[in-house]
Amino acid sequence: MTDQVTIYEVGPRDGLQNEAQIIGSDVKIELISRLKACGLKHIEATSFVSPKWVPQMADHNEIMAALAADKSGISYPVLVPNAKGMEAALAHKIDTIAIFTAVSESFTQKNINCSIEESFERFASVVEDAKSYNIKVRGYVSCVAGCPYEGQIDVSKVVEVSDKLYKAGCYEISLGDTIGVGTANQMKDIVRAVKGVVPVQNIALHCHDTYGQALANIYAGLDEGVRVIDSSVAGLGGCPYAKGASGNVATEDVVYMLNGLGMETGLDLSKLVETAWYISDKLGRKPVGHVANALKPE
Ligand code: HMG
Ligand code: MG
Repeated sequence: MTDQVTIYEVGPRDGLQNEAQIIGSDVKIELISRLKACGLKHIEATSFVSPKWVPQMADHNEIMAALAADKSGISYPVLVPNAKGMEAALAHKIDTIAIFTAVSESFTQKNINCSIEESFERFASVVEDAKSYNIKVRGYVSCVAGCPYEGQIDVSKVVEVSDKLYKAGCYEISLGDTIGVGTANQMKDIVRAVKGVVPVQNIALHCHDTYGQALANIYAGLDEGVRVIDSSVAGLGGCPYAKGASGNVATEDVVYMLNGLGMETGLDLSKLVETAWYISDKLGRKPVGHVANALKPE
């Protein structure tokens, strides 16, 4: 496999949203700056969700204001759940938003307080606004390999929701194994099925590593032609509304694997390791990922 792979960094958003202790905006901004120095071109910066639901993301205005000065062409996508979030996001210079829904009704209720159908109704005006401001829209599908409330999910539901998001105008569909229960053959089947409705170049994989299967699942996805991988520096993260959702796969672990496969990411592994330690020190613990521990800076 020789090829170019895009790493979509979710650490500042997915990585930090679940932290109980509020982290200073200055630390988040420094983290984003360090991630940029690693060579990352897509850094999901924050969420325009309700601060009552996710208090850690309440400083979205401070974060986006700090990034406004950045003229380097790096994309800083933000999560938007509804029209209110879009209105708040539009106060900033944003190039990409990410809308999010799931394949499980129970998870969708717990996460965004509506049905899957209603989530699409909410997205309609958001996507319309995005189009009129020339903002790209990414679409997340959660629980593709299993739901914390409903268990196994039929792959046909993953296809249905992915198809709907793609037809709604999302340029990329990120398939989320929210609680990390998937295994490699299952991920292969999911990607193969979704390829029937979304071109493979528009599919991303978003693997949480709860069961230590994320790298194997990503390898399976790469084998199916996927070339966009979501990951989180230091393996930070989890979804507050999905019991068992531990961190995303660590960015530095994915890059180490891709380097070994001869695949290009354009990222500096040693800087990623330093960044993993920077944020982990701030959180008062070791990075979750393997590579940051193996290559711990002196
Ligand atoms: P709701 O309570 O149903 O909203 O929440 P509502 O429309 O009934 O409004 C209730 C109150 O919230 C009102 O305020 C609204 O103004 C306010 P009040 O009158 O009570 O003072 N409100 C908002 N405030 C700020 N920003 C907004 C907003 N919308 C309404 N955008 C809502 C619905 C979607 C807002 C809520 O459920 C929510 O914020 N959920 C977000 C949950 C979340 O962020 N989860 C984590 C991200 S998803 C994830 O991690 C998975 C992913 O990584 C992929 C994977 O791993 O699978 C993407
Ligand atoms: Mg996630």
